[in-house]
Amino acid sequence: AMEQTFIMIKPDGVQRGLVCSPFPSPLISSSFASFIHSSALHCVKILPTTILFLFSPSTLEKKGEIFLVIFVRRSGLKLVGVERSFAEKHYADLSAKPFFGSLVEYIISGPVVAMVWTGKNVVVTGRKIIGATNPAESAPGTIRGDYAIEIGRNVIHGSDSVESARKEIALWFPEGISEWQSNLHPWIYEL
Ligand code: CMP
Repeated sequence: AMEQTFIMIKPDGVQRGLVCSPFPSPLISSSFASFIHSSALHCVKILPTTILFLFSPSTLEKKGEIFLVIFVRRSGLKLVGVERSFAEKHYADLSAKPFFGSLVEYIISGPVVAMVWTGKNVVVTGRKIIGATNPAESAPGTIRGDYAIEIGRNVIHGSDSVESARKEIALWFPEGISEWQSNLHPWIYEL
């Protein structure tokens, strides 16, 4: 089924430059230029010279031909710093866990890139690309498998179900998702 999912590059991913590339992808044609432009404008506050480019070029860009462009339109993206109370809300289900405090500290430690992806079965396929929560168990080729070694610094988040996606999207994008907002990128290929 067509679904939406909430994907977030966590502060360590942003800090390590995993979402940034100075060059546009040759894989993605001219409509991508306007996306880069609007994303760059969007992150002007925090990273003035940064052009957002998701895990370029080794993971999602490579996957992009099939996954992002054809199956999935990435329909919303913004760079944001979150406050403690917001992070606690996002991770409310984990509030009883012993690592809750450090998890919240981690998420508020720097800006994150919040995204909504739209696509066929995108909740499950998104989590496949991301890999298992514990980087020690995530397969090479997945984002966590390739980029993370610590469960407490696992670079990226993806909703675990359609229901959590709905809640998370409502929390992170209260302004709503529309392809025509300036921070959103309409992919040129449609199903
Ligand atoms: P995420 O997919 O964002 O969902 C919950 C997060 O809690 C998870 O990624 C990890 O970052 C974190 N987490 C889960 N288990 C542990 C753990 N045992 N120790 C520290 N952090 C954890």
